[in-house]
Amino acid sequence: MDAIRLEAISKQLGEREVLSDVSFTVKQGDIFGYLGPNGAGKTTTIRILLGLLQPTSGKATILGDDVSRDEARRKVGFVLESDGLYDNKTAEENLWYYTRIYGMAEPAERIDRVLELVELRDRARDKVGTYSKGMRQRLALARAMTHNPELLVLDEPTAGVDPSGQMEVREVILNMAHKEGRTIFLSSHNLDEVQRICNRIALIDRGEIKLYGELEQLQRERSGNEVEIETTEAIAEPLLAELKSLSRLGLRERKGNILTFAPQEGVRIPDIVSLLVGRGVEIEGVSKKEASLEEIYSAILKEVEPS
Ligand SMILES: Nc1ncnc2c1ncn2[C@@H]1O[C@H](COP(=O)(O)OP(=O)(O)OP(=O)(O)O)[C@@H](O)[C@H]1O
Ligand SMILES: [Mg+2]
Repeated sequence: MDAIRLEAISKQLGEREVLSDVSFTVKQGDIFGYLGPNGAGKTTTIRILLGLLQPTSGKATILGDDVSRDEARRKVGFVLESDGLYDNKTAEENLWYYTRIYGMAEPAERIDRVLELVELRDRARDKVGTYSKGMRQRLALARAMTHNPELLVLDEPTAGVDPSGQMEVREVILNMAHKEGRTIFLSSHNLDEVQRICNRIALIDRGEIKLYGELEQLQRERSGNEVEIETTEAIAEPLLAELKSLSRLGLRERKGNILTFAPQEGVRIPDIVSLLVGRGVEIEGVSKKEASLEEIYSAILKEVEPS
């Protein structure tokens, strides 16, 4: 069963179609990254997912239940753009308040547990107004986890948080995914972050999905066939001339100890390596040049930019 399934969701707000024909699925266990420029429609999608906004057309389900059903809502915890925490209450009091909304009996143990998950137990009795932005985001994550949902939906969870705070928030997200077995859906403008923690992504622009899939596969598909081979010493000129003459190897350049090849079809990287080793060259490392998420993102947005 899919964790999230959006089928041809459209949303008209006033004169504008803010989402048009948005479809994608999030699998259980995914850390899913939802990307797109300001105003693309990420928060609108999230509000529809959470049942806070009705789509004009299309169907959205969470773990098999339509998002309008209470069953679906109970399976989701969320953190929206504004954290909605009470500044003049302590972390513990904020969580108590939330457990009452969910009608949880004897929540003390659970509150203690989620505060531990986000490493805020020692600050549990401090007023949230004294917290840093990073601590607030972690507390908001704890609150989202309180009723033990299977899925977490996070709208820009690290926005406005400093780099070390971002690392802490990411750590919490990774723990929730890997140790607690939760599915995570997050929107983000931080491509580096998404590249690091997400396994599947969708890119939305002006209400339309432009790219969707497994991140590693997308990177492979969009990479050229270039490979870099680093040698312990710069190779000698006669060998360089020989490599150049073997056009099927596609030697592109030599920079210091690094040779870049774009081999022709049928030439395998191990063949190039053994050729070099056979000439007495020592290999320090071999790496395929993969497209970064940033390269993919800007290439796609350029494709659709009116010129
Ligand atoms: N109530 C509304 N009425 C009309 N238009 C709206 C309304 N709410 C949002 N919009 C428009 O819908 C579009 C999508 O907004 P949304 O907040 O979903 O974008 P976003 O991708 O979350 O952007 P950001 O990265 O800035 O958070 C924007 O153009 C916004 O102006
Ligand atoms: Mg938004």
